[in-house]
Amino acid sequence: MTFDKRKVVYQIYPKSYKDTTGNGVGDLRGIIEKLPYLADLGIDMIWLNPFYPSPQRDNGYDISDYTAINPDFGTMDDFEEMVATAKTYNIDFMLDMVFNHCSTEHEWFQKALAGDPYYQDFFILRDTPTDWQSKFGGSAWSPFGNTGQYYLHLFDKTQADLNWRNPNVREELFKVVNFWRGKGVKGFRFDVINLIGKDEILIDCPVDDGKPAYTDKPIVHDYLKMLNQASFGQDDDSMTVGEMSSTTIENCLLYSAEDRHELSMTFNFHHLKVDYKDGQKWSLIPFDFETLKDLFHTWGEKMSKANGWSALFWNNHDQPRALNRFIDIKNFRNEGATMLAASIHLSRGTPYIYMGEEIGMLDPDFDSMDDYVDVESINAYQMMLEQGKTAEEALDIIKAKSRDNSRTPMQWDDSANAGFTTGTPWLKIGKSYQDINVEKEISGKIYPFYKELIRLRKEMPLIAEGSYRPAYRDSRQIYAFERELNGERLLVLNNFYGEVLTVDLASAYQNGQVLLSNYESDGLGKTITLKPYQTLAILAKG
Ligand code: GLC
Repeated sequence: MTFDKRKVVYQIYPKSYKDTTGNGVGDLRGIIEKLPYLADLGIDMIWLNPFYPSPQRDNGYDISDYTAINPDFGTMDDFEEMVATAKTYNIDFMLDMVFNHCSTEHEWFQKALAGDPYYQDFFILRDTPTDWQSKFGGSAWSPFGNTGQYYLHLFDKTQADLNWRNPNVREELFKVVNFWRGKGVKGFRFDVINLIGKDEILIDCPVDDGKPAYTDKPIVHDYLKMLNQASFGQDDDSMTVGEMSSTTIENCLLYSAEDRHELSMTFNFHHLKVDYKDGQKWSLIPFDFETLKDLFHTWGEKMSKANGWSALFWNNHDQPRALNRFIDIKNFRNEGATMLAASIHLSRGTPYIYMGEEIGMLDPDFDSMDDYVDVESINAYQMMLEQGKTAEEALDIIKAKSRDNSRTPMQWDDSANAGFTTGTPWLKIGKSYQDINVEKEISGKIYPFYKELIRLRKEMPLIAEGSYRPAYRDSRQIYAFERELNGERLLVLNNFYGEVLTVDLASAYQNGQVLLSNYESDGLGKTITLKPYQTLAILAKG
């Protein structure tokens, strides 16, 4: 059996969801408290970012124990209660498995450092470093204690890459998945999983900071098959997603092909790089609509034709809020938020909602570099100063691009600290919380629209399973596609700009039926007018 295509995933950054102890950090009991809210929204699965013991150099993506709970977030009893309570609402959990690397405080690394050869083979140690760059800046190699050797870390130097060539490493990691399966966990998100397959002989690679030397290597597919077989593949109702760094359609088709038994689906990030100048994140340019549209069409069409499956998303804990990037939020926040939502929830793939997206949360608009805590932002700020940018220029870029933009606490109400904590939040609350919060938005325009999108996917096989075909491919303003299943057809038009636009409708749609829009319907005809950021979904007649 394959996973259920009607499901919608909601992502919670546990640190920032709801604090019940007053320590300023969100916790598992806070998630239990909010389960009725999530059940009302209608989601099926909650993806939790790492809540395991960790020195928090990279906010939990530096794990020092894979099968325990960081006491800041609660206890194993809390975890079990959370899973059991969620089941009463038909909600399952998806846990974040960070298997490319572990924290240098993990006992494996500590034992390796202490000289144990068994554990030294858990890591990638070399006498001479290659020229590969860490994704967080600087060399990807650091001295391995005082041994004269170097260990590989594609991310922070406290995140040591694991040696997947070693079967003992693989076995340990498969055990981790099985531990959580034993606790009733059905979903797994595998962090940067397409980077686990390094060659045996590592050589310099001046192209793209070294990425081609370790990304999407064929052996990753073999490792995923082993992982699948040894763990989640034994559950009929498991749902898995791989986070794929700088990946290709060809590889994602393989990762998600049903008969290959690797993963249910993949995340890719190409569509969230359309506002990078020359591929560089730390820059400020308006987004490139043509590229965005082409990417959606190319991926949508190829995945559909070859039966691959994508995770669809605009936001996550590594991205600034999509509303700030793609929408004129001053004038059209509601319209823009609902249009963005429809553009993925009516498309082919599994939609992911990042906490706060369902109420149209925005970037926090911090005033000072002191408000940022993310290691990547802090390194990037320094790098920009070294490159000659003024402090003001660098801060402007951080404000637009920092990962902290999405990590600020969930805005529940307009009380102090947005109802997130009674203490001091670990990261400041966004400035907008008095206007944008759950209490207000629950009867606003955005939240009910998300509910409706989730409901429609459950009700209509056409949305959950239909094929994808690009429509109005040459338009400079609308991103549109058609879905089709058993002769039923749905056209989804999304106006990505704040300007009105007229489009011609094919005859099957002129006589069709409006399924959903974020504006009152004007009726259909030979031509129709799309209002600013309008989304319009039309079912073809007969
Ligand atoms: C993924 C995570 C990100 C983390 C990185 C290293 O990209 O989403 O938050 O910093 O992997 O684990």
